[in-house]
Amino acid sequence: MKILGFMGSPRVKGLNAKLIDSALKGAQSKGVETKRYDLIKYNIKFCMGCFKCMFENHELPIGRCPLKDDMAGILEEYRHADGYILASPVYDGGVTALMKNFLERKCALHYRKREDYGRIPDTREKANFEKKASLIVTGNAADEYWEVMGTPCFEAMEAHFLVEEIDIVDRYYIGGVENISKKRLSEKLREMHTLGVRLIDEIKKARKEKRD
Ligand SMILES: Cc1cc2nc3c(=O)[nH]c(=O)nc-3n(C[C@H](O)[C@H](O)[C@H](O)COP(=O)(O)O)c2cc1C
Repeated sequence: MKILGFMGSPRVKGLNAKLIDSALKGAQSKGVETKRYDLIKYNIKFCMGCFKCMFENHELPIGRCPLKDDMAGILEEYRHADGYILASPVYDGGVTALMKNFLERKCALHYRKREDYGRIPDTREKANFEKKASLIVTGNAADEYWEVMGTPCFEAMEAHFLVEEIDIVDRYYIGGVENISKKRLSEKLREMHTLGVRLIDEIKKARKEKRD
């Protein structure tokens, strides 16, 4: 089993990096392989809106994008993975541009007939709810603002998962991060470890239910 972590903060030694590492360690403790993608380190160009990836080559698992960058390789690894952890700071009330850019380019996993106007695209490969994902969001605004700060981020990150038939296990908002105490940070890191463990447990449970 393989779990991919996508880290949407430009600060590769910041809080999201620590939190996602702890969550991935939790997953590793269940014997699975993990990989952390720091999105800032990859060449991911902006979607140019040509729709080629979505409207053409419906027989392929990944639509062909004319942009030449790292995204095709990332999506190839993505389609073979079993679960995902996405982490993003709140920037201006939403996910970071880094995370949003990545999410937009994931459109190559979807397809729609050009003439099916107004219809939501379908996914090229359905996960059949045997894959799962968990989401982490951090913000300077305190925990009680989770709805106003966290919800738009969770919604942005989970929209594709809905189409791909991937359930969300945890949506975790951590507020007040600017002056987070050492004590609170270690509590949160422990909770992230548990989040990683829970993700694997839920994937295994879903797969067992399908088999039985
Ligand atoms: C450009 C920018 C915009 C931000 N906007 C918000 C915001 O709207 N709400 C909020 O709670 N925090 C906001 N923050 C604070 C970040 O969420 C915080 O720095 C981040 O969660 C720290 O995580 P990191 O160490 O992984 O980067 C913003 C920070 C930056 C740099």
